[in-house]
Amino acid sequence: MTALTDIKLASLAVRRSVLSVPAANPRALEKVPGLDCDAVILDLEDSVALEKKAEARDNLRRLFEDSPLRNRETIIRINPLKSEFGRADMDLVLDVSPDVVLIPKVEHVSEIQAVADIFSEAGAPDTLAIWAMIETPKGILNAPMIARADERLKCFVVGLNDLRKETGVLPQPGRAYLVPWLMQVVLAGRAHGVDVIDSVFNDFKDADAFEAECAQGRAMGFSGKMLIHPAQIEPANRHFGPDLQAIENAEAVIAAFARPEAQSLNVINLGGRMVERLHLVEAEKLVAAARIIADRKKTS
Ligand code: COA
Ligand code: MG
Repeated sequence: MTALTDIKLASLAVRRSVLSVPAANPRALEKVPGLDCDAVILDLEDSVALEKKAEARDNLRRLFEDSPLRNRETIIRINPLKSEFGRADMDLVLDVSPDVVLIPKVEHVSEIQAVADIFSEAGAPDTLAIWAMIETPKGILNAPMIARADERLKCFVVGLNDLRKETGVLPQPGRAYLVPWLMQVVLAGRAHGVDVIDSVFNDFKDADAFEAECAQGRAMGFSGKMLIHPAQIEPANRHFGPDLQAIENAEAVIAAFARPEAQSLNVINLGGRMVERLHLVEAEKLVAAARIIADRKKTS
């Protein structure tokens, strides 16, 4: 029988809203503690101009020293290791110890392993995780191999701005021509226990289109969405988080399987609906996620 503890609650992460904040923008950095996002990407890469890279690193060093972000996953997006900024970005990561380093434009297993090797050599804690941006044609084609690259790899983030630039696919409502590629990334991640986060949506003033894309991303199996603007946090939390109805359904499934007569059953009738034991695992995860979200609200 599956118990709540069996689904490794410690490793259950809630990543509905993953806000990117340019590390070169002190005003935006200041706002972060007051925002209700699950995770924050402090970006040293493409949102930071070349001449601001060093200043951006200094901003992050100060942020971690003076007012470390509590109660949410903290991610530093570095420049590629092979770029002139990569090594200095990694030194910052080792000094300030965020939860995660996010590697951009990953195309090969070796790029994950190179970062993991630097962590091992520096004696970084096992909890320091690696995430990978999958945002190029090669990245998508190699996603199944990249997903197995290293134990520290926990999450893929899809990047459609780069992918559109590389492929010529136009931004269109519904993302028809991109969906097959996105699903490949979802599949590769899920096959190897790597979480998957949907791409940013650029038109932050277009609330309706954003809602539609969140709903689509949720239906496609993404855990959450990378965001560029605070106005996108609430809709992302709503679409990717469990709603009241879902929580009630999950609690009903858990209660039904907890009855003595259900102990030796793998399939039961719950109000005219077939429920299998595999649904119990989903229900337990959902209730646990709801609890994490409620606790985060209480303590933030
Ligand atoms: N994180 C934190 N705060 C943000 C923010 C972000 N990503 N984006 C905007 N804000 C803040 C602004 O600083 C502003 O604060 P203020 O009212 O105190 O001045 C407020 O939210 C409203 O912002 P708004 O005026 O609507 O937008 P803007 O013109 O300041 O910024 C962007 C628009 C797109 C430049 C900005 O949202 C941004 O830089 N986003 C992230 C881009 C990024 O990370 N790209 C890389 C990944 S694709
Ligand atoms: Mg990119």
